[in-house]
Amino acid sequence: MNNTRPIIEKCAERAGSRYELWIDFIRSAGLEHMAEVGVYRGNFASSILENCSSLKKYYMIDPWRHLDDWNKPANEDDALFESFFAETKARTDFAGEKRVILRGKTVEVIDDLPDEQLDFAYIDGDHTLKGIAIDLICIYPKVRPGGFIGGDDFSKTIWQHHSKYEPTLVFPFAVYFAEAVGAPIYGLPYNQFLIEKTIARSFEFVDLTGDYSNLSLRGQLDANKALKLKMAEMLPRATKYARKMKKWFSK
Ligand SMILES: C[S@@+](CC[C@H](N)C(=O)[O-])C[C@H]1O[C@@H](n2cnc3c(N)ncnc32)[C@H](O)[C@@H]1O
Repeated sequence: MNNTRPIIEKCAERAGSRYELWIDFIRSAGLEHMAEVGVYRGNFASSILENCSSLKKYYMIDPWRHLDDWNKPANEDDALFESFFAETKARTDFAGEKRVILRGKTVEVIDDLPDEQLDFAYIDGDHTLKGIAIDLICIYPKVRPGGFIGGDDFSKTIWQHHSKYEPTLVFPFAVYFAEAVGAPIYGLPYNQFLIEKTIARSFEFVDLTGDYSNLSLRGQLDANKALKLKMAEMLPRATKYARKMKKWFSK
């Protein structure tokens, strides 16, 4: 698509949520084959399938099991994941003929996806550095030239969750990845990103939000910042009060 930028700009401008953003984009681009990495309870999948009639095939990739090497808050126990799996199937049964369930971690099932078949892959699985690196590298050859990779949790801070969890590295890693493969990447509202798999090398980071100016990690890993973060986690009320006072005195 040689007019991606105006399309995604319009979608970003009119979207009231990440759901609306992707529904609008899939419809505008007339996408037919997509995959979602990290499906959880199937809420996103059912909404996309319900609202995007152009879709002919929807691959769902998720292990729906507890993972010992995934230190993130959504890592539930096996029993709960089993119920989420049943929930996902029930929610998307109406689109049963379009749905392909690949139950396993990305690396366990990626070979079941044909090469260069996907118009769109939505990455919303393991957002750690290990997870996003594996997902982008595995999914890229599965996307057709001219196709897209979108994703969630493009958080401008790596400390998206409590510091007892592994940091979130979707941003800036996805930008580094896009530069490596020579693809344009868009920073979008609601912590979303979009990579276009262009035929010619044309890397550019287009930040449509103004939130992603700093691509380096040094500031976020600074010892003073880490100390402040720890204090805020240990003494949340005192930190809130101190911030209020600081704001008040700086007026
Ligand atoms: C945040 S939830 C996904 C939410 C879903 N996309 C939505 O919008 O409703 C993250 C999911 O990623 C899955 N996940 C974690 N590690 C994964 C991996 N290595 N490969 C595939 N999926 C993974 C988890 O099982 C979990 O269901």
